[in-house]
Amino acid sequence: MRLTYRLSISLIVSVAIVSMAFAYLQISENRRGLKRELERHALVLAETLSKSAQPLVEGRSYHPLQRLVDQFENREQIAGIAVLSTSGQPLAISSRLAPRLDKYPEPLRQSLQDGLTHAGFARLGDDLVHVIAMPLRDDPLVIGILAIFHDAAYLDVQTAALWRRALIGVGIQTFLIAVITLLTIRFGFGRPLKRMTESLRQWRTGAAVATPEIAGHGEFQPLTQEVTRLASSLVAARAAAEQEARLRETAESHWTAERLRVFVQGRLGGDHLFAVSNREPYEHFRGDKGLQWRVPASGLVTALEPVLCACNGTWIAQATGNADREAVDSLGRVRVPPEHAQYTLRRLWLTPEEEQGFYLGFANEGLWPLCHIAHTRPIFRAADWDAYCAVNEHFADAVLEEIEDEESPVVLIQDYHFALLPRMIKLRRPDARLAIFWHIPWPNPEAFGICPWQRELLDGLLGADLIGFHIQAHSNNFLDTVDRSLECRIDREHFAVARDGQRTLVQTFPISVAVDHPQTSAELPHLERAALLAKLGVRATYMGVGVDRIDYTKGIPERFRGIERFLEEWPAYRNEFTFVQIGSPSRTNIPRYQDLMQEVTQEAERINRRFQNGNWKPIVLLTRQHSHEEILSYYRTADLCMVTALHDGMNLVAKEFVAARSDDQGVLILSRFTGASHELPDALIVNPYDTEELSRALHRALEMPHEERGTRMQRMRATVKEHNIYRWAGNLIGELCAIRTASFPRRPALVRRAVNWP
Ligand code: F6P
Repeated sequence: MRLTYRLSISLIVSVAIVSMAFAYLQISENRRGLKRELERHALVLAETLSKSAQPLVEGRSYHPLQRLVDQFENREQIAGIAVLSTSGQPLAISSRLAPRLDKYPEPLRQSLQDGLTHAGFARLGDDLVHVIAMPLRDDPLVIGILAIFHDAAYLDVQTAALWRRALIGVGIQTFLIAVITLLTIRFGFGRPLKRMTESLRQWRTGAAVATPEIAGHGEFQPLTQEVTRLASSLVAARAAAEQEARLRETAESHWTAERLRVFVQGRLGGDHLFAVSNREPYEHFRGDKGLQWRVPASGLVTALEPVLCACNGTWIAQATGNADREAVDSLGRVRVPPEHAQYTLRRLWLTPEEEQGFYLGFANEGLWPLCHIAHTRPIFRAADWDAYCAVNEHFADAVLEEIEDEESPVVLIQDYHFALLPRMIKLRRPDARLAIFWHIPWPNPEAFGICPWQRELLDGLLGADLIGFHIQAHSNNFLDTVDRSLECRIDREHFAVARDGQRTLVQTFPISVAVDHPQTSAELPHLERAALLAKLGVRATYMGVGVDRIDYTKGIPERFRGIERFLEEWPAYRNEFTFVQIGSPSRTNIPRYQDLMQEVTQEAERINRRFQNGNWKPIVLLTRQHSHEEILSYYRTADLCMVTALHDGMNLVAKEFVAARSDDQGVLILSRFTGASHELPDALIVNPYDTEELSRALHRALEMPHEERGTRMQRMRATVKEHNIYRWAGNLIGELCAIRTASFPRRPALVRRAVNWP
């Protein structure tokens, strides 16, 4: 039987049972009320009549007694009255009662026996009557019994009428409930389920590739989410399988999440992968909807997340969300991504002093400007250096705890925050296979040489078995820096450093993104662009986009000046071209970043004041963090994307823009000082310091023929697809696992040893 009918029948039966039970209770209560009323009425009448009958019985005046009885006989509801002697002989009896009273009912018999008042219901023939028998006294003697009979048949009649009404009510109620239930099931559940079934059928047969919402909101939302995820996995798995098949045919080798997972499992032989970074991939915070989470703005997070998802590893990072503690277990661990857990995030908390000295101070006022040639002077303070060492130790302890039970664990350390970590771990776990990836540029030896602790930093880094950079120039700079600063042997043929019996490989691994956006129609962007701009209150025909942390290395004021020059030179684009700059505030406690925020805002306002006209303005500056989905809609609809970094290790915005353009459209304007420019020569390569060149690039991008845009984008997409994040991780992990680590006995874990600086 169909679920709908089963549900309706069980509802009908249970509603009917409950309604009948209530009707029964109500009718019984009603009948009891009527009975009580009748009993009270009979008692009052008996007391009144006994006062008149008593003297007549006492004086043996039987004729007046009979008249008295006859007089009351016709009153409403009275079935008859009798006055009996104590032996039960009728002294006076109403004429209607006499022929029916062949047998005395129970209350009358009891009263004759014990001389007390008794009342109750009895049958006279087939009729229900109420009887009250009351003694007549000549104190202390009982001289007779007065019996009054009330007709009680109306009780049955009324009860029957009530039952009839109740049954009709229950019938109507049950019918209505059944109809409403059927309609609710049909429209509230049936339709969404039908839609869901249809969507699943389309996915199964490959008729649909996108994953639209399939069953609306409300109760269905969790189910919708799960089914959507399942369907997405199905679509992705099918796409991967098809791709694998295609690649097998063409003998190409393409990296996918699945291939990376299998590859890493093979290399690790069942062991886990460990990653360390300062920035965590998910921050929890208290918001309007309770405990919520967000993904911080970070290229590193964008790149590393798919790797951890593919390898089910552990990611150790600093806790930066204000509700991070609420989400973790007693060991500071939480499974993430929050909606679809695939790996473990181990959080570490820093004190405000450590945060100041380690993160804001040494890492971002010292190393960041030291490594980026962007003309901001590094600041080196001894107290910041102490905090940097202490936090590196703190992280080393956490890593050692996590890898305690692993033989030769593989640890991927990220970035300039942890230059000392490789040495600290290696000293206590020589068997650990350690790689550190330096996500920012490495400057030439002269530039790096101004750091007072350059030797300590280099020694810390050389604790790793493998050091990775984005481009060869950074690797070369590093080798030159080591050569100038430390006693060691540089093997330039194999790009390795040998020192104190340890060998460290220095290799180039250009980082990338995952390219798994579904194919979109080429028509869509124009419509979506108009809607996006309308939301921002702007009307324009062409749109450019920039997505950056507000950082002085990103060349945002230079970009704005390029746009200003473009509008000066090509006034036809006034009222037509708008540039949307998404700028997420970053490192806002550092004065240089506060100044930059002010500069960026003032430049945008100045240029807007100069050209603004009605509903159009040249620059829309959005200084809040945007979600990945929000950014994606700008990437997919913009005519061009500007990446004008003054110096950047790689710059993943450039690759994300390319990855998002599955319509093979959109032009990338890319700074020659980014690592990405080495891989994407089909972008319009610019010098961000050259305002004229930026202006010309904007004009060229907007005027570029459709075919040329398509060809350039196709080539860039082919590069990014092939050199994706899975390849990056595969190469890095593969290289690391191929290195034979020293076979020293394991030192007892968590025993702190002083670091011997050179
Ligand atoms: O490589 C530099 C980097 O760590 C990137 O991963 C990321 O884009 C940025 O710096 C994040 O900066 P922060 O963590 O200080 O916000």
